[in-house]
Formats: sequence, structure tokens, C-alpha cells
Amino acid sequence: MNMIFLGAPGAGKGTQAEVVCKELNIPAISTGNMLREAVKNSTEAGLKAKSYMDAGELVPDEVVIGILKDRIAQPDAQNGFILDGFPRTVQQAEALESMGVEIDKVIEIDVPDDAIIARMSGRRVCEGCGNSYHIEYKPTKVEGICDACGAKVVQRIDDKPETVLARLKTYHEKTAPLKDYYEKRGKLVTVKGQNEIAETSRLTLAAIKGE
Ligand code: AP5
Repeated sequence: MNMIFLGAPGAGKGTQAEVVCKELNIPAISTGNMLREAVKNSTEAGLKAKSYMDAGELVPDEVVIGILKDRIAQPDAQNGFILDGFPRTVQQAEALESMGVEIDKVIEIDVPDDAIIARMSGRRVCEGCGNSYHIEYKPTKVEGICDACGAKVVQRIDDKPETVLARLKTYHEKTAPLKDYYEKRGKLVTVKGQNEIAETSRLTLAAIKGE
């Protein structure tokens, strides 16, 4: 099954993608993670992307579409995938269609803006493997250290409150129109994302199975 996880920054797309990809044994493809990796490795795409990401703006479509196209051509993506954070504009959605990629379901994780601002200040990510935590809702076993790889966990540059506001503005202007786009195509299912993580996972899996 090919799915898109849609939602505001911090709605929990990455958290739920991690759960669902294990349950369904398909890869979760996060353009945000791929771009952060590209920035870390100073690749050509990473050098183009960095200033946009730091400011909470979208990276130009042509950069992201190129990265995504290469990733979904990989062998592990041939039996289904979750796209986490792509498409983010109508142009990106149209590019997916023109690549001949069939999307079965679009799961929108819906969380109000005020809850998002509170959530993001507590997020911490691993410098090594990129795993994501929350100081209150999903803490590491040892403070400041990743459970999975033992590297340091830090706050993302774009999780500073002023940048979160910019990301939310970008989301409402450029990405939220995709709800309409996929609703018209009969693909959109909305899941309330304000509950605890485990309850949101239960609702997400039920939405995927059409329950
Ligand atoms: P990206 O990494 O995709 O960031 P985002 O969409 O802003 O989403 P996040 O990763 O911040 O949030 P999430 O919804 O995954 O939430 P999470 O599960 O971590 O993109 C970063 C940047 O890259 C963009 O700003 C842009 O510049 C660029 N970019 C990426 N893709 C692009 C594209 N297609 N086109 C152009 N540019 C692109 O949860 C957040 C926190 O809340 C965590 O700490 C988590 O533990 C906690 N949490 C999750 N669920 C719950 C819950 N139910 N209750 C309590 N806490 C919870």
C-alpha cells in the first residue's frame, strides 16, 4: 500500500510513520530526514536546502522532487511505502502523479496549532541516527542520550518557537490545500492527533485498514 502522511509540523507524522512502517513492513520515507542528512553531508541538495530549512520555509520543489524520485525507485519501496512530509505543495502532488505513482490513502493527522507549539518545544532528536523523542511524552531512558545508538539528543534548529510559527504559516499557505486535492480524489482520511501517542497509533492503523 502506498500512503501519504499529511499534517502540520509536529502533528506526529514521523512518530506514527515509525509505528506503521514496522506494523506493515514497508519503509517510511521522510523528505525532512533525507534533507537533514543531505545538509549534514554537505551534498549539492543539502547546500541548496539549508537556508530554507533553518528559516522554516519549504525547500524548492525541484530539489525535493529529485530526492524523492530517487528514493522511491529503490528496491525496498516496490511493495509499498509511507511518504512522511511529501508532497508539501500541489506541484509536488502533481509531480508524483506524473511519475505514475499510485497513492492508495492519504492519512491526515490533525492537531490544532496551539497544541503543536507546546509539543515542539519538547522535541529532541538524536544527532547520530535521527530518532525523535519528547522530554515529556517520549523521553529517552537516559537523559540526553539516544536509546537506539547512544549519541547525544538535541533540539532541532527549526524547533525554536519563532521558526515553528514560520513553519505553521508555511503549512497553512502551501500544504493545507492538499487536503482538498486528495479529498476530491477520494483518498483523504483524517485522524485526530491530539490523543496520547499510542491512541493516535491505534486510530491511524484503524484508518489505514478502513475500520
Ligand atoms: P520535516 O522534517 O518533514 O518537518 P515537519 O513536517 O515540519 O514535521 P516534523 O518532523 O517537525 O513533525 P512530525 O509531524 O513528524 O512530528 P513528530 O512525529 O516528530 O521537514 C523539515 C523541513 O524540511 C521543512 O520545514 C522544509 O524546509 C523541508 N522539507 C521537508 N520536506 C519537504 C518537502 N516535501 N518540500 C519542501 N521542503 C521540505 O512529533 C513532534 C513531537 O511531538 C515529537 O517530540 C513527538 O515525540 C511528539 N509527539 C508526537 N505525537 C504526539 C502525541 N500524540 N502526543 C504528545 N506528543 C507527541
